[in-house]
Amino acid sequence: MSLKQEIDKRKTFAIISHPDAGKTTLTEKFLLFGGAIQVAGAVKSNKIRKTSTSDFMEIEKQRGISVATSVMAFEYKDKRVNILDTPGHKDFAEDTYRTLTAVDSVILVVDSVKGVEDQTKRLVEVCRMRNTPVIIFINKLDREGKDPFDLIEEIDTTLHIQTRPLTWPINQGSLFKGVYNLYQGHLNLFESNKSQLADEVIGISDLHGEEILNYLSVKDTKKLREDVELIEGVFEPFDVELYQAGLLAPVFFGSAINNFGIQELLETFLEIAPSPRSREASERMVAAEENKLTGFVFKIHANLDPNHRDRIAFMRVCSGKFERNTFYYHTRTGKKLKFANPATFMANEKILTSEAYPGDVIGLYDSGNFKIGDTLTEGENLHFKGIPSFSPEIFKELENRDPMKTKQLEKGISQLSEEGVAQLFIQEPGHRKIIGTVGDLQFEVIQFRLEHEYGAKCAFIPLKFYKAFWITCDDKKMLETFMHRKSYAIAKDKEGNPVFLAESEWNVTLSKTDYPDIVFHTISDYAGVANEGAVS
Ligand code: G4P
Repeated sequence: MSLKQEIDKRKTFAIISHPDAGKTTLTEKFLLFGGAIQVAGAVKSNKIRKTSTSDFMEIEKQRGISVATSVMAFEYKDKRVNILDTPGHKDFAEDTYRTLTAVDSVILVVDSVKGVEDQTKRLVEVCRMRNTPVIIFINKLDREGKDPFDLIEEIDTTLHIQTRPLTWPINQGSLFKGVYNLYQGHLNLFESNKSQLADEVIGISDLHGEEILNYLSVKDTKKLREDVELIEGVFEPFDVELYQAGLLAPVFFGSAINNFGIQELLETFLEIAPSPRSREASERMVAAEENKLTGFVFKIHANLDPNHRDRIAFMRVCSGKFERNTFYYHTRTGKKLKFANPATFMANEKILTSEAYPGDVIGLYDSGNFKIGDTLTEGENLHFKGIPSFSPEIFKELENRDPMKTKQLEKGISQLSEEGVAQLFIQEPGHRKIIGTVGDLQFEVIQFRLEHEYGAKCAFIPLKFYKAFWITCDDKKMLETFMHRKSYAIAKDKEGNPVFLAESEWNVTLSKTDYPDIVFHTISDYAGVANEGAVS
C-alpha cells in the first residue's frame, strides 16, 4: 500500500465528554463494531472513579490501566480507526488538552439529561483553537432528557459552536421510538437491547407519505414531520467542508448503552472525518504525505514501579513512515535515537510494531530523553507547534524538607514537569519553585513520586495567585519596567518565558490599563511561544 493510501485509511480521533456522559460506553461500542473486542465490558474504564480524592494510590492503580487503553485501534470497513483516550477526571484536564493536539477530529458526547456541562466547554475551546472538526453525539435518549431543540440551542450558545442535526429523535425516555435520519431519509427504530450490534433501518422515501404510519403512531408522525420542517427551515444544509474546517458540528442522537444510533454515527464519522492532514511546525507546514518521518511526543506515561523506571513516550506520527530500529533525530537535544521495541495498540493490547504511518500513535520506551512537545525527524530541524500550556488554577511553593537531597529534588521536579504532571515556575532571587496545577491531586502525585522515585522529601506552601499570564511586548523596555515593578509576581516558566502571577482578576485588569502594550496570554505552548489566547 502506498503512503497516500495508508494515510487515507486512517482516522485518528478522541471521544470527549464530561465524566459520566458515556464516553467509555461509546468507545466500547465502537470497538465491538470493529470486532476488536467480542463482549461488552471488555474495555476497562480509564475513568478515575470517584474515590476519596486523597486516595492517590487507588487513583494510580486505576490510572495504570490507561497505558493499555491510551490508544485503541481497530479496522472497520477498510479504515484504520485510532481512538485516543482522554482521562475524564478534571484534575487531569491538561493531559486531555495535550491529547487533543494529537487527533484529527473529535466526537463529543453530551448527556441528554444534563446537557452541556462545565468541563465540556473548556474541551471544546481547545478544539476551536486548533479548528478540530467536532461531531456531537447526544446520548441517553432512553432517559427523560431535555427537549432536543433546547439541547441544540444550549450547545450553540454555551459552546459557541454552530450545529446541524443529521438525525432527529422521536420522543425520549420511556416513549423513545428511535431516530429519523434527515439525510438518508430512513427510520431507525429503537429497541432496548444491549447486545444488538447493527441497527436495522427502514427506508422512508417520503416523510409525508403513508408508509411511515406502519411504524409510528399518528401523533408521533405528526410531531416528527413538524420537527423536520422546523429543522429544514432553521438550519442550512449540512456542509462537509465547513465541518472539516471545524466550523460546523453535525449532531446525532442515540443511546450508547443500548447500542442505538452508534452504527450511524460510526459510519458517518468514517465518511466525513478528516484523515491525517498537514501540521504546522515553527519552521514550516509539514504535509502528511512527505516521505520523511516526522512526529511529536504529546504524552509521557511514567512507570511508578521503582524497579522499572522506564517511561513510555507517546508519539503521534505526522508524516512519512516510522520504522523500528532506525535512527531518528531528536530536534531538541540533537541526539540520534533508535527504538528496539516501539509499541502500537490494538483494542486494549499493546503490541510490538515494526512500522507506523501518519495518524498512528506509537509508544516509545524512554529512559529520560523525551519531554512533552519533542519532535523526531530524519534530520531536519523542526519543532511542531501547538501543545498548549494553560494557566494553572492552584499555585503552591515547593519546599525542600531534606537539604541532603536537594539535587534529587531538583532533578525530580524538573522531570515531573517535563512529563506534564504540573507546571513549574521559577522565581528569582532564591530560585523559588512555584508549582501550578489544575487540581489538588497533582500535589499528591508530586509528593509521592518525589519521595518514592527520587528519594526527596517536600512540602507545599499555598500561594494566593489566581492565574498565570505569559507576558509579551514589542516594547522590550516596557516589559522590563513591568517585570521590575512587579518582581514579586514575576517568574519564569521552564522554557525561561516570563510569566506574571496575578493575585486577582482586578490585578490583571489594572496591569493591562497601566501597561497597554503588554499582551497577557492565558495559554502558552511548549515551543515557548505564547501565541494564542491573548486576553489583552
Ligand atoms: P464516561 O466514560 O463518559 O464517564 O461514562 P460511561 O461510559 O462510564 O457512562 C456513565 C454511566 O452512564 C454508566 O452508568 C453507563 O452505563 C451509563 N450510560 C451510558 N450510555 C447510556 C445510555 O445510552 N443510556 C443510559 N440510560 N445510561 C447510559 P454507571 O451506572 O455509572 O456505570 P455502569 O455500572 O453501568 O458501568
